[in-house]
Amino acid sequence: MTVFVTGGAGFIGSNFVLDWLAGCDEAVVNLDALTYAGNVHNLDSLRGNPHHVFVHGDIGDAALVGRLLAEHRPRAVLHFAAESHVDRSIHGPGAFVQTNIVGTFQLLEAIRAYWGALEPAARAAFRLLHVSTDEVFGSLSKDAPAFTETHPYEPNSPYSASKAASDHLVRAYHHTYGLPVLTTNCSNNYGPLHFPEKLIPLMIVNAQAGKPLPVYGDGQQIRDWLYVKDHCSAIRCVLARGRLGETYNVGGWNEMPNLEIVHTVCDLLDELAPRADGISYRTQISFVTDRPGHDRRYAIDASKIHRELGWRPAETFASGIRKTVQWYLDNPQWVQQVQSGAYREWVAQQYAAN
Ligand code: NAD
Ligand code: TYD
Repeated sequence: MTVFVTGGAGFIGSNFVLDWLAGCDEAVVNLDALTYAGNVHNLDSLRGNPHHVFVHGDIGDAALVGRLLAEHRPRAVLHFAAESHVDRSIHGPGAFVQTNIVGTFQLLEAIRAYWGALEPAARAAFRLLHVSTDEVFGSLSKDAPAFTETHPYEPNSPYSASKAASDHLVRAYHHTYGLPVLTTNCSNNYGPLHFPEKLIPLMIVNAQAGKPLPVYGDGQQIRDWLYVKDHCSAIRCVLARGRLGETYNVGGWNEMPNLEIVHTVCDLLDELAPRADGISYRTQISFVTDRPGHDRRYAIDASKIHRELGWRPAETFASGIRKTVQWYLDNPQWVQQVQSGAYREWVAQQYAAN
């Protein structure tokens, strides 16, 4: 049997593929456009593995996707591919509309044609699992209850709006055509192979390079943080046992203000890789201009996936963040290799004013 993964060279997708193939022999066809965020080196340990087929291509290429589905006959599609960075969506929303909305639509069409032609048993067993985000729900006030699956959608950034649109399309394909879909809405992930444009890896990489640690606004924005391997286990769980057409919130039960995250990273680096001058990495923190439309708080109520499917995270934030910082310290070549010219151009553009 085979599963078809989109975006499996990105942060979460590559962690998912690596974990999947470490745990079973079921083949993975991995379609990724290798945008700036996709990195084939994330999959280096799979070279020569006959159960992994990597295909360089776009989810919006319906002919390619149709051909791959017909050839490999997967029992499931796990859809990770997306433009995923809020700050980039503010600078250039077009790519988000193209990949997250139009690309998901093209993918849905190719899957609908493939699924519709399957014989009844395979049709009944088939699943599309759509990987989404808690950001579709918008921003919470300080004391509001955490997002449940029935919280209204109120996306505030071009990124979250494009993800919300893709969630709606997936939902509509279930209701209209009966496509067997599952959707997960997860909070902020962190862990190995995270591209250093996002908060946690950026702080680790900048700290070590002696650069400023740019905290937006007052640093009191709150996110829920989940170790990426726990997100991968939640996805496997929903794929195996999720109820068709349902959505599942996935989170770490770990709300924290950004400044506290940055302090934690600095303190771990002080312990594991202290500065030569003995001064704390916290001294590199620099408060910079806030993100436009910055959501103040996200919080996930992950009771449903626990109650119905028995899933809960294995890592605490303390254990997960320690593993993460250690992984970056142990993998300087990976860090160096992702900091290409394009990465440097982004950093120069994004943090120019500060
Ligand atoms: P990422 O940006 O690290 O990786 C995205 C991958 O998709 C890259 O490998 C990229 O090359 C590929 N891709 C982009 N456009 C494509 C296209 N048109 N065709 C094929 N491949 C394409 O993202 P991530 O952090 O790994 O996120 C994966 C998914 O999980 C996304 O759908 C994102 O919305 C969702 N999500 C992410 C988080 C998080 O904290 N990172 C949290 C919740 C949900
Ligand atoms: P990010 O990792 O971009 O994830 P998201 O915006 O999808 O939640 O950012 C996490 C939080 O950290 C968010 O509130 C913005 C903030 N942030 C900074 O303060 N400084 C930075 O340099 C970055 C990249 C993010």
